[in-house]
Amino acid sequence: MITNRTFTMLKPDALEKGNTGAILEKINAAGFRIVAMKMTHMTKRDAETFYAVHNQKPFFGELVTYMTRGPIVVAILEKNNAVEDFRVLIGATNPEDAAAGTIRKLYATSIGENAVHGSDSDENVAIESAFHFSGRELF
Ligand code: RTP
Ligand code: MG
Repeated sequence: MITNRTFTMLKPDALEKGNTGAILEKINAAGFRIVAMKMTHMTKRDAETFYAVHNQKPFFGELVTYMTRGPIVVAILEKNNAVEDFRVLIGATNPEDAAAGTIRKLYATSIGENAVHGSDSDENVAIESAFHFSGRELF
């Protein structure tokens, strides 16, 4: 299915390293339009809920600590084939496996601290967008 929206988070390491502007440039240059965007700071409960699918994984505790240690930028993006194209733009979860020129290859530190999130399905775009935005921002 061709999708036209995805959801992203610029994670705490991206903001700490001053890479927010550079990453947003890459996103714009790849043809994504920013539909909604804000800076926020997830609580422990927020991170545990957002990443609940991983709560049985060995890295879950580290993931929650990482995602709550500083502010993040969250955004809804629009483009044809948004979910798939954005996953290509960010690259593999582990930056060592990420293709040259991808956001994670350029800006991630490690498999755990990998600079950006991208939704993996239409269903999750809806769930994740509604987690961070409300009302008219979603339409
Ligand atoms: P994301 O959901 O953030 O877009 O990342 P992803 O789909 O590429 O990877 P996923 O498997 O959903 O993992 C979610 C996030 O958990 C952290 N992680 N750490 N230490 C580890 O082995 C490990 N594996 C995953 C990363 O921050 C990853 O993006
Ligand atoms: Mg994921």
